[in-house]
Amino acid sequence: MPAAHLSVDGISHTYKRGQVRALDNLNFQVEPGEALALVGRSGCGKSTLLHIMAGLMTPTSGKTLIDGRTVSGPSPNWVMMFQKPSLYPWMTVAQNVALGLKFTGRTAEIAKRVPEMLELVELADYADRNVQDLSGGQQQRVALARSLAPKPEVLFLDEPFSALDAFTRNNLQRDVRRIAKELDITLVLVTHDLSEAIIMAERAVVLSANPGQISDIIEIDLDNRDDLRTPEYVAARTRLTKAYEKAAGLDFEARHVNASMPSSHADKNMKPAAADRAAVL
Ligand SMILES: Nc1ncnc2c1ncn2[C@@H]1O[C@H](COP(=O)(O)OP(=O)(O)OP(=O)(O)O)[C@@H](O)[C@H]1O
Ligand SMILES: [Mg+2]
Repeated sequence: MPAAHLSVDGISHTYKRGQVRALDNLNFQVEPGEALALVGRSGCGKSTLLHIMAGLMTPTSGKTLIDGRTVSGPSPNWVMMFQKPSLYPWMTVAQNVALGLKFTGRTAEIAKRVPEMLELVELADYADRNVQDLSGGQQQRVALARSLAPKPEVLFLDEPFSALDAFTRNNLQRDVRRIAKELDITLVLVTHDLSEAIIMAERAVVLSANPGQISDIIEIDLDNRDDLRTPEYVAARTRLTKAYEKAAGLDFEARHVNASMPSSHADKNMKPAAADRAAVL
């Protein structure tokens, strides 16, 4: 199935509980086959937006269109991967991967499709293993294979690698991007991690908070995403960091001025910004 076009049209959302205005009039497009990152500080509405785009939540107003059709609920054509792989521990790797096909009544495809997917995520030798015996990174690969088995047009990812060690995370980031390109899948990724956004995405929508609004859309135009030391990577990183800081209201110029002030002023003004900067870098 060819990759899908997504259109986010005037999405606003207020949670009834606490009357939290999470999102305010968001509008953007995701091109077919594009990988797009949603970035912004904690609580700015990234997960809310992703859940709405995937049809797991209904927005207060506005809509998402996937290939011109209004999203009104979940579908095997667009699948979501979460931070925890949520596999069935009593089933084998192959049985877990087959679930998406089973639930959608496509059991005839299981025999061919499951081995193909396991090959793709480099777990062909693990088909009959119990998922409990796998590492966190391997379990996330099983979840990825399960998500991909029904041939979705769009893959939504909500910080799916944040529980993994840096090396495993890095490999999966590259693998998911490669696989999405190979299978022609549109990717929408939520992340706090700016390196992850740069490695995986061609554009980043940067959100500001309270309520969540688009602060910037940054192009990440890189020929080589494997080498994090190229001038292009460093330039993209600088652009995205600046946009993130602007959206998060982190004024580092002011912080430097504060640093030369009497310590009582400097401490009061620096601590939250310093904590946020640590989150960005
Ligand atoms: N079920 C809910 N009921 C009420 N308010 C909620 C609910 N879920 C989220 N919120 C609020 O909506 C806002 C956006 O939350 P959301 O989870 O989308 O943020 P996020 O950007 O994904 O944050 P994080 O990076 O920490 O995951 C926050 O102010 C949050 O407290
Ligand atoms: Mg979130």
